[in-house]
Amino acid sequence: MAFGFFKKSDKTEKKETLTGPHYFNLVVKQVVQETKDAISIVFEQPEKKIVYKAGQFLTLIVTMAGKEVRRAYSINTSPVTDADLSVTVKRVEGGLMSNWLPDNIKAGSSIKVMEAMGHFTTEFKKDNKRHLVMFAGGSGITPMMSIIKTTLVEEPDSICSLIYANRDIDSIIFKNTFDQLQTQYEGRLHVIHVLDNAPVNWQGHSGLLNHEMLTKILERIPDWGISNTTYLMCGPEGMMKNVQTLLEARQIPTDKIFKESFVQGTIDKEAKKESEPAPKSNTGAHEVTVRYDGQEYKFMVEPNRTILETALDNGIDLPYSCQSGLCTACRGKALSGQVKLDEEEGLSQSERAEGYVLTCVGHPLSDDVVIEIG
Ligand code: FES
Repeated sequence: MAFGFFKKSDKTEKKETLTGPHYFNLVVKQVVQETKDAISIVFEQPEKKIVYKAGQFLTLIVTMAGKEVRRAYSINTSPVTDADLSVTVKRVEGGLMSNWLPDNIKAGSSIKVMEAMGHFTTEFKKDNKRHLVMFAGGSGITPMMSIIKTTLVEEPDSICSLIYANRDIDSIIFKNTFDQLQTQYEGRLHVIHVLDNAPVNWQGHSGLLNHEMLTKILERIPDWGISNTTYLMCGPEGMMKNVQTLLEARQIPTDKIFKESFVQGTIDKEAKKESEPAPKSNTGAHEVTVRYDGQEYKFMVEPNRTILETALDNGIDLPYSCQSGLCTACRGKALSGQVKLDEEEGLSQSERAEGYVLTCVGHPLSDDVVIEIG
């Protein structure tokens, strides 16, 4: 194991970043206009293929005005049914990358990405016999598409019920694909659309995906019992809270619930930085040890800086994406010491209990913090 000691001003130690086994240069094969404001970017798999699990995301890395910007986008393809790799990007007002990509990317463009990451996935087994109940809102559908396609092929005895909320009929991403899949896998995939603003001839549900609507829908989907049902959710914060409250009221065990807390476009680190001043602390700087990729790094972290920010300042190329405590790309396990997190939403209760931390929102509270990443 190599060892390095870094101080904040020790710029001579800075390593060249964005090379090595965690980074790939992907060529865009096609850009698909999914809706008025959403595109899918289809990449050719590189020679050394990117290995991923259904539900994971890619971190796209783009230099804008001389500054590196990273954003996480869930993969919509399935590792078992699709040869290519594709992510979906929805324009968001004020979104830096979500507006830059549709305006600048075309077939033949090259984009740097980080390896697939994320823990919003489930283990697929041929002999599983379960019901996946999935709640998606807007672009939160992207990882669900990957999971559904994978489940339908990998688990012949499992079924999927997807409750999919959108603003209006024109903003439904993958509508045609879901129609085809429902026909192809009749009885095994049930898509329930919910629109805020439904057209007059709309046959599905209309209104907000609130407690009342969710209760009504859950009463109408097959009941396979708690032990045979897995719940997944990805969408805007309000929707996620409503679903979470409902599942808690039904006493669904937390290990049956999978959440993707980040939705592409809802995170803009720059906006967040401006609106939220760095947390104040009187505890002083603490030394942190990080083990990653066979290396061990030690550095001092000032109270108003996160562990990740300090590592990056020192040229230590740790993995990260959202920098907001939601995507878990920077997740590591604290083997010792105390770490305070500004945001815990990205970690499950069991992950927190096992000592996992997020370096992008983590501050050491003691001098014996040792974090292992990967
Ligand atoms: S980089 Fe996304 S949670 Fe830390």
